[in-house]
Amino acid sequence: MIAAAHEFGSKNADDERLVLEALWATWGHQQPSPTLISQALKAEDHRVRSGALRVVRHSLGLLENPAQFLMTAAVDENPRPRLEALAAATWLGGKDGAEILLTVANQPTDPWIRVALNSSILKLKSDVDALLATGKFKDTQDLDKLLASKLLGAAIRKEVITKAAKAKTKGREGKVFKAQYELGEKVFHREASCVTCHQETGMGMQQPIAIYPPIVDTEWINGDKERLIKLAMHGIHGKLELKGITYDPAKGVPPMSAVGAILSDAELAAVLTYARHSWGNNSGAITVEEVGEVRTATKGRAIFYTPEELLKEHPMKEKE
Ligand code: HEC
Repeated sequence: MIAAAHEFGSKNADDERLVLEALWATWGHQQPSPTLISQALKAEDHRVRSGALRVVRHSLGLLENPAQFLMTAAVDENPRPRLEALAAATWLGGKDGAEILLTVANQPTDPWIRVALNSSILKLKSDVDALLATGKFKDTQDLDKLLASKLLGAAIRKEVITKAAKAKTKGREGKVFKAQYELGEKVFHREASCVTCHQETGMGMQQPIAIYPPIVDTEWINGDKERLIKLAMHGIHGKLELKGITYDPAKGVPPMSAVGAILSDAELAAVLTYARHSWGNNSGAITVEEVGEVRTATKGRAIFYTPEELLKEHPMKEKE
């Protein structure tokens, strides 16, 4: 089949769309052809080039060197393939992802590319910072403005606090809640903290594979406080079903790191309170004392919880 697609591709080399069709056929067999990708990337029609890049984006794990295609596209004369390369680079991640991202940033940008660039920069922040520190991209035009969100389309962190929680910040008594929410927001966004996996939006990551579950509108985040504190303090690993999606360690879901050892009781209470009042969640604060009690009660524990173990100790009210 692959050989037939190659033959079809070379026979119809002067019809770009047919080359793309041939590529799709190989993709359909989970063997996207690097030869056909290279061929389609040389097409005159930018839509054909973009189509090939979309294949690359969804086949990162099937290609030996997806970065080479994305790097070519990062300097494409048309903004659409550059945008496709950027989206794929964000999924690719790591040093290669950051390099492609900054290469796109180094070309002329438009508001669409800037919106995409800004969310990818947030996602690949540590690799982007490391690459910038090498000085390789130091002459990039407008990069400072872009990173400081000073260009049209540059992402500004959205306020995610719920209305009801916002009301709680008013007045004198509101001061304590406000301080806790703000500390929680900082902790949430620290390097390697919750944001890295569950994202700015709390929605986690379900593409290209289900890897990080959402912490929006789930009973894990909004329900039993003790269960939530235990989960965050000691981490969790095991097959987890949530909203019809299975997060399965056998399919690459990593453990959620235990943050108990790196956060104080006040920080942990704050970050959980932040999450329980953001993106529509509205389920009540967690106090320093509540965290302290769990810390004492689970002292000496050095392994992750499994979902079963936590659910046995604290059953869900409703099945999710
Ligand atoms: C290293 C990535 C990572 C970090 C950092 C992380 N989590 Fe998680 N989290 C996960 C993964 C992966 C799971 C699912 C684990 C499993 O199924 O084995 C999960 C599960 C959860 C769950 C239960 C399921 C759900 O989605 O409602 C909650 C709640 C949660 N995390 C909250 C947090 C909070 C709050 C923080 C910050 C203190 C945090 N996580 C930090 C990766 C992470």
